[in-house]
Amino acid sequence: MDRRKFVGAGTAALAALAVPKGLLGQTCDNRTLGDRYGMGPFHTDGAPRKVKLASEFEPGQRISVQGTVANCSGPVSGVNLDVWHATDGGCYQHPSDACPDIPGHPESFRLRGQMVTDRDGKFAFESILPGAYLNGSAYRPRHIHVIISQSPGVQIVTQLYFAGDPYIKGDFGADEPGAANRIIPWVKTVPALWKGTWNIQIPGVTTGLIPQNDPAMMEFDVYARRLGNSILFHLPPNTSRQPVELRVYDLAGALVKRSLMTGLPVELDIGSLRAGSYMVDLSWWTLKGLRKESVPIRI
Ligand SMILES: [Fe+2]
Repeated sequence: MDRRKFVGAGTAALAALAVPKGLLGQTCDNRTLGDRYGMGPFHTDGAPRKVKLASEFEPGQRISVQGTVANCSGPVSGVNLDVWHATDGGCYQHPSDACPDIPGHPESFRLRGQMVTDRDGKFAFESILPGAYLNGSAYRPRHIHVIISQSPGVQIVTQLYFAGDPYIKGDFGADEPGAANRIIPWVKTVPALWKGTWNIQIPGVTTGLIPQNDPAMMEFDVYARRLGNSILFHLPPNTSRQPVELRVYDLAGALVKRSLMTGLPVELDIGSLRAGSYMVDLSWWTLKGLRKESVPIRI
């Protein structure tokens, strides 16, 4: 059985990009609830702070999750997300679930990591599509475990699901009204990457501390994708509100375009550029200081 074919793109995916009413501070009717399965047996305390949960050797289709944590008034910074999930083969690296290491590349805290929402309440992480696994006589749908917490006080133990997964129907955790806003659509981008947006709403959660020198956010890759006459550059989620400077150079090293952009993702209009290869230098201020990245593009 092809367990992956359920992952579908479509117009429904566009709806996930819209800002929910809750994030506009108008309502608090889209709250995120705990999953009926609770914590499950495979959580491990003390996962490192990181947002690339899968190593380059990890088998599986790549996914990228982004979203915002909000209370009833708007986005909230400094909220911790502790994330873990199964391998492509549907097992957990955990003493109670014998899961073989990747040959030649054993790894601690495999497919686990913690991160904190940035000053705009945003988070993002990358990993691989979790495999479905047998729970008793039935497969559980693919899912990602998350503990959303703030010290002291709020803690929600929940799971994120994949729209279209045939195993959702009849699942104790996923097939109930309280899970409806945790079943999210995924769109496939180029290069192959399933991308999903999960906006979390938790009444009562308040602004917390953002760790200084957080290694999690700095490891997040910059990547680009083509959209019509533009190239969109996706930057790490804790980008400051300062503009991002883009400088486009041709292969001879000549500066052919320069622009300052605010907002994410950063959009570069390539309508005026001739076909060919270019290097785009991006620079922007992060919480750790000025960051620079060079991204090759081909038009
Ligand atoms: Fe699980």
